[in-house]
Amino acid sequence: MQVCLDNQQMTDVVSTWKIQGQVIAFVPTMGGLHAGHLSLVHQAKANADKVVVSIFVNPTQFGENEDFDNYPNTLEQDLYELEACQVDAVFTPNKEHIYPDGFTSHLKAGSLSQGLCSNARPGHFDGVVQVVHRLFEIIAPDIAIFGQKDYQQLLVIKQMVAALSLPIQILSGAIVREQSGLAMSTRNQYLSIEQKQQALKLYQVLTELKQETLNGRNLATAIQDAKTILSQDFKIEYLSALDANTLKSITDNTSKIAILCAVFLGSTRLIDNIIFNQG
Ligand code: PAJ
Repeated sequence: MQVCLDNQQMTDVVSTWKIQGQVIAFVPTMGGLHAGHLSLVHQAKANADKVVVSIFVNPTQFGENEDFDNYPNTLEQDLYELEACQVDAVFTPNKEHIYPDGFTSHLKAGSLSQGLCSNARPGHFDGVVQVVHRLFEIIAPDIAIFGQKDYQQLLVIKQMVAALSLPIQILSGAIVREQSGLAMSTRNQYLSIEQKQQALKLYQVLTELKQETLNGRNLATAIQDAKTILSQDFKIEYLSALDANTLKSITDNTSKIAILCAVFLGSTRLIDNIIFNQG
């Protein structure tokens, strides 16, 4: 496995593969890897000849009072895991490589970035599209893989790729959960054992909401009841049921529903979602 510390090393590796006609799949991450990230790596391996994983904690997608300075750094363990998965190259740039001379992209996330996570994290998706676009420029992959765990992010990236006509196929990976149902997240490291126990309620509530929707229960009332239950353990940022393609209100034309939520458990922000076909 080649560890590329700067842009030149990364582009050299990729150029050699391109000359050989190899199909390259890319999995961007911020490190703190867990089985959710690794599932995307396995998907990448199944769909391409060469796999690149990036590890870069992108400052431009964090708000002022967020955990950028404390974001888990487990680089040594991450590299060990990626080597074990037979990843071909890992890109671990620093801030100057991604944003040389203070350069930050002018890119703005598109319409799908509005609402949900953006309400509490203004500018977050601008930071995400900027870094992902920059990584795409350097790595020029044929395929890039994102998790459904960050569903709004996945749609925002797909929208960017379509709008800019980038020749990159975007694939998505299903949410990997702990046995308890809790969606795996780097931020789960912040939770105490007791909080982890409380956190499972999130997926239970989402699953019940899905079932109630399929049973034809009025969604607005069901969401209101779910909020009452969740508010016993969490501070709710949002809990919404939307059209999964547009992230707008459900209409008669909606074929796929997304129930999405962001909550705080103590000072830890958790997001989760469930996507399903309208009955
Ligand atoms: P990060 O949170 O490290 O996540 C990297 C990728 O792993 C994302 O596509 C995310 O959706 C996916 N992922 C996280 N938890 C998952 C789970 N439990 N199951 C399946 N996939 C999961 O998302 C980011 O980093 C950043 O915003 C990034 C795209 C790298 C840009 O900085």
